[in-house]
Amino acid sequence: MLTGRLKRGGTVLAKFQAPVEADLARFREQYHRTLQSGFRVIDRVVAYMCRSHGKGIRPTLTLLCASLNDGVPNEATIRAAVIVELLHEATLVHDDVVDGSEERRGLPSLAARFKNKIAVLFGDYMLAGVLTETLSARDLRWLDILSETARRMAKGQLMEAARARRLDMNEADYVEMTGDKTAALFSASCRLGALSVNIPDEMVAALGIYGEKLGIAFQVRDDMLDLFGGDRGFGKPVGRDMKDKKLTLPLLAALSKVERREARRIKARLRRGLKRGETKRIIEFVRRHGGDVYAEEFMRSQVKGAVEALEVLPESPIRDLLGELAEFSVRRGR
Ligand code: IPE
Ligand code: IPE
Ligand code: MG
Ligand code: MG
Ligand code: MG
Repeated sequence: MLTGRLKRGGTVLAKFQAPVEADLARFREQYHRTLQSGFRVIDRVVAYMCRSHGKGIRPTLTLLCASLNDGVPNEATIRAAVIVELLHEATLVHDDVVDGSEERRGLPSLAARFKNKIAVLFGDYMLAGVLTETLSARDLRWLDILSETARRMAKGQLMEAARARRLDMNEADYVEMTGDKTAALFSASCRLGALSVNIPDEMVAALGIYGEKLGIAFQVRDDMLDLFGGDRGFGKPVGRDMKDKKLTLPLLAALSKVERREARRIKARLRRGLKRGETKRIIEFVRRHGGDVYAEEFMRSQVKGAVEALEVLPESPIRDLLGELAEFSVRRGR
């Protein structure tokens, strides 16, 4: 079972997971079962992965969205939760290869522990699981959502890699890229949950918008935690994005406030690789020019949009909880 060293899943989101606790337990059990293969090499990797687990925010969204309108999560809902978490984790396994990231959820990443070759192939194995589970749902709407989501996620990651190479990201690109690589899956997680209990179409669409905006805010927060660090163990390395030449929102905002010459100087430092002490100086630069405040305000406007999207839904405690979850997602890690 997914009882890892990092107990974050059980603490960070506890309030939001409480109404769907029993369904989450079913989800975890089925998730684990889906990954088992009977092949030694795969099961070894699976056993390693299951030593620590994530927060489970996407399956939580799926289950909560299925609980709106007095809905009761059913077998299809659990399957949707398994699918979105599989797609998420497959992407993380590949992401750590792409980002050269050695730590994930407080442990060496799969890429670090088993090397890139196994990590790439195992990520593919997980993606195959997404296909199999989607087919079992026998619902073309699911296939529609998931194929579009997988396409956007791959496009977002490709766009990020291309922009990092040229260091020429601007804010519009950043928002598009973030929407694709991260928010698409949040949106899908919400919509699949709703579809699994046959919530009316206009509500499914509203939940899609809610998930999209929440997802963008969630990634901006992740980028802020990467840049500035957080209060508690993040479970993954800090400062990785700058090392990878990624211009995330706080840095982009600060760069847009200064003369072109100064911006070019900072980019040149990133391009040649940061020397000792330079990381700290760039963080100070970002704060001096209000990049942190700008990113906070940007997140706040996304969260506001997410909460507004919920207004077409009838009032209910679960709807309020979804609103609170959006607000929480930008406070996390402090
Ligand atoms: C990490 O997602 C990748 C991003 C989109 C920022 P999570 O922060 O949800 O990762 P886990 O699953 O909880 O580890
Ligand atoms: C990853 O963004 C988003 C994905 C869709 C995987 P990051 O590269 O910032 O994610 P972390 O910080 O490694 O989890
Ligand atoms: Mg990464
Ligand atoms: Mg990445
Ligand atoms: Mg990150």
